[in-house]
Amino acid sequence: MTTPTACPTDRPPNLAPASGAAHPRLALCGDILYFLRDPGWSEDATGAVRFEPDGWLLIEHGRVHAVRPADDPPDASWARHDWRGHLVLPGFIDPHVHAPQLDVIASFGAALLDWLERYTFPAEARYADAEQSRLGAERFLHALLAHGTTAALVFATVHKTSSDALFKAGRRLGMRLITGKVLMDRNCPADLRDDVAQAERDCVELIERWHGVDRLAYAVTPRFAATSSAEQLAMAGGLLQRYAQRAGGLYMQTHVAENRDEVRWIAELFPDSRSYLDVYAGHGLLTRRSMLAHGIWLDDTDRDRMAQAGSSIAFSPSSNLFLGSGLLDWARAERAGVGVAPASDVGGGTSLCQLRTLADGYKVLALQGQRLTAWQGLYAVTRGAARTLELEHEIGHFAPGTAADVVVWRWAEGAVQQRRQDMARSLHERLFAWMTLADERNVAAVYVGGCKIVPAVQDSAGWNREAAGHLGPAVARPG
Ligand code: GUN
Ligand code: ZN
Repeated sequence: MTTPTACPTDRPPNLAPASGAAHPRLALCGDILYFLRDPGWSEDATGAVRFEPDGWLLIEHGRVHAVRPADDPPDASWARHDWRGHLVLPGFIDPHVHAPQLDVIASFGAALLDWLERYTFPAEARYADAEQSRLGAERFLHALLAHGTTAALVFATVHKTSSDALFKAGRRLGMRLITGKVLMDRNCPADLRDDVAQAERDCVELIERWHGVDRLAYAVTPRFAATSSAEQLAMAGGLLQRYAQRAGGLYMQTHVAENRDEVRWIAELFPDSRSYLDVYAGHGLLTRRSMLAHGIWLDDTDRDRMAQAGSSIAFSPSSNLFLGSGLLDWARAERAGVGVAPASDVGGGTSLCQLRTLADGYKVLALQGQRLTAWQGLYAVTRGAARTLELEHEIGHFAPGTAADVVVWRWAEGAVQQRRQDMARSLHERLFAWMTLADERNVAAVYVGGCKIVPAVQDSAGWNREAAGHLGPAVARPG
């Protein structure tokens, strides 16, 4: 359970000074939308979605107090932020993204293994430096917020300092952030290589310092089976076991079955394993808090095993298209009972905006005869993602007691989006066009734990916190 977090006063130095006064009771007025449950794949989401045009989202001490219809406004004890004519959604959740890879997003001409060597490893090597890590963490988290994402499961680099910097910056921003030091003891450049004993000491130090502090959690992060020895994977599994009772347990994040050359390489490296997934299963790495990126080339046995373990797939269509990796069959994963959460996978993916992830996801699924509704897409990047991360009690929707992580979006930015909105005849049509056409330029405001964060006036890359409450103790834990 989240512990109380105050609006931070020690803002990163590159942020403009705060504007606005702290207020423990805040009412946002706008077109509020969130999911009560999984809407499924039908265009009819009756009963699964709540939409309150010009409704009221009441936030008390940083947590959702209530959602009310337009004709039931709060009394004068509530400060008001008027977002009428805007779409008010729970902040998006990104379950798989690489902080240091903002430096290599949109790099030309390579498939996965080549791309790692040519672009990614050299970029990640720079994060050995503590100051680079600090600046990189702030740049990354501000960018994430600016793209409408308020919670994430993030790859740092192999360096302890890179995850330390992310935890510090995330805590200052009051964000729900899960990250961890990358484990990598072979098949990578020497300056990115750790060893089992040192990696374990680093992990333990980071876990003891950060796991369960405010809204932070630790993710054991073997990059992928190619860059960790069997001994290192066993150490990683040991950590999951050792800390299973601490703050709900650690998370585990890695990559699996992304690219066919990669799958062949893993079979050579682990000849005794039945499959790529089996390497992780055999080292105790599949839990309810395991998020495996891609999983395009898994088979039915693998999917059943993931379902049994309660592990999830991070679906990264932008990355899968950009690196030419393949098309994930979401319906098949769902039929097997495996949770699927859309993810940006920047820098393999080419946008931090989860709306771009969904638009690419729609196209990847359309090639396989599947149709991603706006309902399922928006559910999957909010409440659905929260569910795969065992965070449904805290984020992804607006039930009373959840953290007030809120993004206010413009329905239309520019004439083309506006025309399409004007022509839409149903809420689903409106939302689907919005999901497909909108991006970070549509973001009007971001609230994290009830604190409003606004773009600095002169620098669109800089962000400015506006205190509008603080995240007080949990008042209710919705089922
Ligand atoms: N497999 C191992 N490392 C990576 C990475 O950084 N990005 C992607 N997309 N796949 C990986
Ligand atoms: Zn990745």
